[in-house]
Amino acid sequence: MDSLEQLVASAVQDFDAVKDDAAALENAKAKYLGKTGQITELMKGLGKLDPEARKAQGALINAAKGRIEAALTARRDALADAQMQARLNAEAIDVSLPGRGRAGGGIHPVMRTWERVEAIFRSIGFDVADGPEIENDWTNFTALNSPENHPARSMQDTFYIEGNDSEGKPLLLRTHTSPMQVRYARSHTPPIKVIAPGRTYRVDSDATHSPMFHQVEGLWIAENISFADLKGVYLNFVKAFFETDDLQVRFRPSYFPFTEPSAEIDIAFGSGPLKGRWLEISGSGQVHPSVVRNFGLDPEKYIGFAFGSGLERLTMLRYGVSDLRLFYEGDLRFLKQFN
Ligand code: DAH
Repeated sequence: MDSLEQLVASAVQDFDAVKDDAAALENAKAKYLGKTGQITELMKGLGKLDPEARKAQGALINAAKGRIEAALTARRDALADAQMQARLNAEAIDVSLPGRGRAGGGIHPVMRTWERVEAIFRSIGFDVADGPEIENDWTNFTALNSPENHPARSMQDTFYIEGNDSEGKPLLLRTHTSPMQVRYARSHTPPIKVIAPGRTYRVDSDATHSPMFHQVEGLWIAENISFADLKGVYLNFVKAFFETDDLQVRFRPSYFPFTEPSAEIDIAFGSGPLKGRWLEISGSGQVHPSVVRNFGLDPEKYIGFAFGSGLERLTMLRYGVSDLRLFYEGDLRFLKQFN
């Protein structure tokens, strides 16, 4: 190999040896093509040759210079490419990663029932009222005909709260929505036609009882509202709620301190998995005269009915849920089925 070939080979080797340092490549370039570089020195030496030889040797040196420049450019490009590739890898965006958008929410099944019940009763002229979950014992019990030390109070295992309200009445978590009958009736004038859905609390917990649960109270008081109206309103309600006419309603005699007579309302579906089974869904009755008096109304003049139904119970029957605790475990696999 002649010395020009060697020079080219050594330049290519030097360039290739540079890995990622642009300055090192410029130094390698200077070694061959710089002011005192080897190619430059050879060019300078041409002057000493006679014209014929100068021309021939000049062409050879130029060719070698061209190859060195080409090798340099190729190396520069390769290093730039590698650098770009490294940057792309470092700043890579994984377009297959899911975005961070807001997850879609949904309405809780018991809340769906709550909204359905409101819509149905609104459509037949009932007002919708809301009241406190921390209640005093007069409104929760006494006004509803369960005086202190009366055994009826133990029908509902109560969470008591330390301290009294501003009128000295002991406080508790309301055990039912029935105190809303008292609150609403005392602040409105008849005819009174209202439902009051909301949270209620009892010391109770198993597959069909939760310490916190929901009820909807219904109350219709006027001068001539009978048990027949209760039957008509409630039948209309369950048919609308369950979206079927294929069901029966029965009123089974029962006892509640605040109604006389009192009844449990049972329904039986004409088809489906629960076909023919009587299922209890509500307490109800004609409001007791003493309770009407506690409303601040004359029981000789005003009469009407009340009912209190469990929203969880209605939800379980509508969707076929067998364990009430599922509603409060927050398991998305369960909850997503309703949305
Ligand atoms: N408050 C009762 C309970 O929680 C349910 C109930 C029964 C409500 C009869 C009423 C009624 O309005 O008339 O068990």
